[in-house]
Amino acid sequence: MRTDFLWGGATAANQVEGGFDADGKGLSCADLLSNGTREVPRQITPHQSEEGLYYPNRIASDFYHHYEEDIRLMGEMGFKCYRMSIAWTRIFPTGEEETPNEAGLAFYDRVFDLLHEQGIEPMVTISHYEMPIHLVNKYNGWASRETIDHFLRYCRVLFERYHTKVRYWLTFNEINCGTLALGNYMSLGIVHEGTRYFTKQIDDPQLRYQALHHQMVASALAVQVGHAIDADLQIGCMIAMMPTYPLTCHPKDLLKCQKQWQEINYYCTDVMVRGSYGAYTKRMWADMGITLSISDQDRQTLKDGTVDYIAISYYQTNCVSHEDDHSMIGGNLLAGVANPYLKASEWGWQIDPDGLRYTLKELYDRYQRPLMIVENGLGAFDQLESDGCVHDPYRIDYLRQHIRCMKEAIADGVDVMGYTPWSAIDIISASTGEMAKRYGFIYVDSDDHGNGSFRRIRKDSFYWYANVIASNGEEL
Ligand code: BG6
Repeated sequence: MRTDFLWGGATAANQVEGGFDADGKGLSCADLLSNGTREVPRQITPHQSEEGLYYPNRIASDFYHHYEEDIRLMGEMGFKCYRMSIAWTRIFPTGEEETPNEAGLAFYDRVFDLLHEQGIEPMVTISHYEMPIHLVNKYNGWASRETIDHFLRYCRVLFERYHTKVRYWLTFNEINCGTLALGNYMSLGIVHEGTRYFTKQIDDPQLRYQALHHQMVASALAVQVGHAIDADLQIGCMIAMMPTYPLTCHPKDLLKCQKQWQEINYYCTDVMVRGSYGAYTKRMWADMGITLSISDQDRQTLKDGTVDYIAISYYQTNCVSHEDDHSMIGGNLLAGVANPYLKASEWGWQIDPDGLRYTLKELYDRYQRPLMIVENGLGAFDQLESDGCVHDPYRIDYLRQHIRCMKEAIADGVDVMGYTPWSAIDIISASTGEMAKRYGFIYVDSDDHGNGSFRRIRKDSFYWYANVIASNGEEL
């Protein structure tokens, strides 16, 4: 392993910070998503809070008031890197202000300063599923081109203010979530009249793909703005890897699988890394009956704003079949056909460490850009035992196996910059809004409704991971 390998952990502002109205913060789309469970979907109420619903992201893990303790715990684990995000609404409460909110900027100054004091390099996602709700309601989010300008104003403020403190940036979290109907609200800020449930959103692919195009243009412009402010900045894209295998060696399974890799996994990276849409998109759009408005200027922008590195989330894999009669199993953003060789988590996500090695090799072969694994982990029901500890051998086992496979990929020649598992500390689940779906090395004493002391407790995985980092991945 390289000696400068970025070991660490990850979170997102809307899932960890809480303090949803502190110091001038505005409401984001995450603040208007109710809680749910694996069985009960979250509800989307973009116009107002509704009586009887609970909004878990507003309190989350209360990092806003606990950040000093949390960052010191990360330091104790030996983190070299903390992948976090900035809440757009702390900086621009509605997204349309001309001047930023100084109190919001000052908060992140304190966070970055303490991270550096602890020897931790921040890696910042500029937008992680939390655009200002005002932009959702006024412009239908990214469906409008005007959102590009609001985003760029925000980016410029961040790069100018923090470029000496933050070298690594990511523009949008899991931008390829926009290739799925699920991405309408959370990723693209689109709401269609009548949409209520997060898992059953009304979808207009024409609008959704146009919005995704706007997002990629905005990202390319942000890369150029960032590099102009400081040529040393490393600005990457971030995609959710949703790898699939053909269920059988039937050639039609293989073709379907290949199509899914192109249209979901590679759709955005082809644009953001290579600078133009893949050849397959012409037929894909025609088959969907959509026509995108892409100007010559847009095409040039995409070419001129390619990224420096590729960050991915990787949790699980599924299979695909050309036949329809298979039962489906869940997954991060996308369900698929179950793989008979894999076991699944309690939320039905199939655990596949070898799939990580495969994915890294595929990505590196295709793009030859440095890769960063910014999310990988196991959501599980952890128990705070009577001895005051949290014993999570299942999480250690999951991470150990994935790190082993990552090391194999590195030995196979892949350039991996670092590994920041999901999540540094327990946070609110994005898909279900639960606290009970825990991922962290640090337990947060709070339940699905924000009841609890919010005390931080080191899990067994905390000590295990500290040793992994100290030995640079040798002792697993
Ligand atoms: C990724 C997101 O899709 O998966 C995170 O970037 C999310 O925000 C993570 O939390 C795990 O998913 P979930 O739904 O279990 O929280």
